[in-house]
Amino acid sequence: MAPGLVETLPSHHVEAAAAYFNDKKQDSQSKEAFAQGAKTTNYDAEFKGTEKHPPASYPNYLPYWTDEKHPAYEPFEATEHGKNADSSFSNLLNGGEVKEITGNIGAEVSGIQLSKLNDAGKDELALFVAKHKVVAFRAQDFADLPIDEALKIAEYFGPSHIHPASGAPKGYPKVHLVHRSADDTTVQDFFQERTNSITWHSDVTYEMQPPGTTFLYLLDGPAAGGDTLFANMAVAYQRLSPAFRQRLHGLKAVHSGHEQAAAALARGSIVRREPVANVHPIIRTHPATGEKALFVNPQFTRRIVGLKKEESDMLLDFLYKHIALGADFHARVKWEKGTVVVWDNRVTTHSAILDWQDGSRRHLARLTPRAERPYETEFEGDD
Ligand SMILES: [Fe+2]
Repeated sequence: MAPGLVETLPSHHVEAAAAYFNDKKQDSQSKEAFAQGAKTTNYDAEFKGTEKHPPASYPNYLPYWTDEKHPAYEPFEATEHGKNADSSFSNLLNGGEVKEITGNIGAEVSGIQLSKLNDAGKDELALFVAKHKVVAFRAQDFADLPIDEALKIAEYFGPSHIHPASGAPKGYPKVHLVHRSADDTTVQDFFQERTNSITWHSDVTYEMQPPGTTFLYLLDGPAAGGDTLFANMAVAYQRLSPAFRQRLHGLKAVHSGHEQAAAALARGSIVRREPVANVHPIIRTHPATGEKALFVNPQFTRRIVGLKKEESDMLLDFLYKHIALGADFHARVKWEKGTVVVWDNRVTTHSAILDWQDGSRRHLARLTPRAERPYETEFEGDD
């Protein structure tokens, strides 16, 4: 089915499902449980350092929560830069070295500067990342660029997503920050209650046009730990039997941002944009590679449209377990100073790992270009 022909479900289906789940306590582990906010950010520790830890390396990237409101997103025509890119990657990898991280997902690239790519190189970047799913670029100057310049590079791929609830550098709401202050104890507190910190998700899938090629770069981090897990959702899809894939074809699910917004308000934080829920196909087709991938995640997917609750829960629980247990299509990406990780949010899920104990600051910035509305093409038996 052509993208334009994928039906749009009546909005009352979306609202009913979102409202239903809004009233329920979610059983699945929520990443909001250890989200940071103005109250948990120790600016003294960040600007001056602590007994054990130096000041933040990039104080221009410290998070602030201001309560300016942003309007709802309007639909826009997304451009897929990977679609006509040169698959020899001669502009992107000119002089660079590529190492695969695993047999199924991930690569590390050294010897090139993302900030120096021409437009052909950026197009190739979109395709290279779509194929490898997640790529760690080492020794980049990204964090040292003026924030406007970094944003300009990312916005080649699509208009920035402004996160509804996260902290942002002063004056730059388009930059999403992942930040845990030096000497922060949230992780230890969290493990009083839970046995692990894994929260598989793709970013902000509740949006009508969720992000595609996504950039995350390290500013400060622990010497060991704080890696990020990624899963290849195209392999996760392919691993299922043809009969099961056929059954999934055509199903759609509600993705909701209401709970994230409610959690932000509950911890005294902000909500920049009214929360939304949207219906997306649970199998989506990548516009550059034509690959199909599972597109559900326990953070934001709530309900399969047209199934009864128990049926929807059973099917989603199976898919979540399949994704979480598929270590043979996971990669664990390690961070270093200067690392920029670029992933394709349409064909991956990821999870933070909260495993460092020494109170090191962890500070990253994400630039989040939005992409096309998810669509699914016809099931062809062997796809
Ligand atoms: Fe994320």
